[in-house]
Amino acid sequence: MHVLVTGGAGYIGSIVNQQLLAAGHHVVVYDNLCNGHAAAVPPATPLIKADLVDRDALVFALRHHGIQAVVHMAAHCLVGESMTDPGKYYANNLVAGISLLECMRTCGVVRIVFSCTAAVYGEPTRNPIEETDPTTPLNPYGESKFAFENALRWYAIAHGLRYVSLRYFNAAGASHEFGEWHDPETHLIPLALQTACGKRGSLEIYGDDYPTRDGTCVRDYIHVTDLATAHVLALEALNAPHPLGRIFNLGCGGEGYTVREVIDIARQVTDRKIRVQVTPRRPGDPAVLVASSAKIRKELGWNPKYQDLYKIIGSAWAWLQAHPNGYES
Ligand SMILES: NC(=O)c1ccc[n+]([C@@H]2O[C@H](COP(=O)([O-])OP(=O)(O)OC[C@H]3O[C@@H](n4cnc5c(N)ncnc54)[C@H](O)[C@@H]3O)[C@@H](O)[C@H]2O)c1
Repeated sequence: MHVLVTGGAGYIGSIVNQQLLAAGHHVVVYDNLCNGHAAAVPPATPLIKADLVDRDALVFALRHHGIQAVVHMAAHCLVGESMTDPGKYYANNLVAGISLLECMRTCGVVRIVFSCTAAVYGEPTRNPIEETDPTTPLNPYGESKFAFENALRWYAIAHGLRYVSLRYFNAAGASHEFGEWHDPETHLIPLALQTACGKRGSLEIYGDDYPTRDGTCVRDYIHVTDLATAHVLALEALNAPHPLGRIFNLGCGGEGYTVREVIDIARQVTDRKIRVQVTPRRPGDPAVLVASSAKIRKELGWNPKYQDLYKIIGSAWAWLQAHPNGYES
């Protein structure tokens, strides 16, 4: 298929692009580079530097490249920032997303895979979280992604859009060529590795008085290449029409890791010291967040290869050592 990957110059998008190419698809990346990196797009992949709200550029891209499907990764993704600047999140994650859907409609493109988030669940009623569990996002990031996911359902009903939405928590790790390089960085594993290599003095642990095995929060980590594989499977599943679209969680398959366990594994992988500082809990941080991936395993045959956190962190460390300045060098 000819596939447009929005946000394909970002962390997960760059690796989705790699896997789509490996599966024999033709890829065009559409990214305004507000958080992405041109160097994260392989030279053979066309990169269109434009915003989702630029309808002329988007329609031209869809038509000129004969696009048959979209993998929609472009978004703003910082939970904390979304709390202080909700408008930025609604504008990009919802309004700009609707611009994409309208351009797809103009061009007759009816397939989309949406990279959603498990933040749509808010405070979970149980773990692991299943797709049918209540959705009560606790921040504008989760709420804006959820609003777009709901729009997909209405576009399916009104216009025959075929969609798969993937809800997951923490992407982690790297491929050989591409890795995570955000500014600011807010994710635990890259922060731990930056601390290990001296780019940061210490790492904050937000609360160690949760009702978990060591008092720190339990979270779900998925290797980014496994996530990318799920996006490819989701894309291929769109060949079979499904009247109301499909929603799948992606989870680590186990019971998750505490923040302290992640840091201990990062110490072992890097063989370096990682200083930590325990600070008070952040508001809105649930004790445990783990998603079930039983449904996507059963229905799409997703079979993640890198569930071992040593391997996940090992791949991120290998990439960071090979690219000490990320994409900046
Ligand atoms: N990183 C995670 O752990 C995680 C977890 C769950 C869901 N997700 C979702 O996965 C997707 C990718 O996340 P990521 O970590 O790779 O983020 P990222 O910031 O690295 O990538 C997002 C990309 O989208 C581009 N972009 C943003 N707004 C745009 C616009 N209006 N027009 C064109 N391009 C635009 C950015 O330049 C960037 O390259 C996001 O939709 C995010 O919500 C990420």
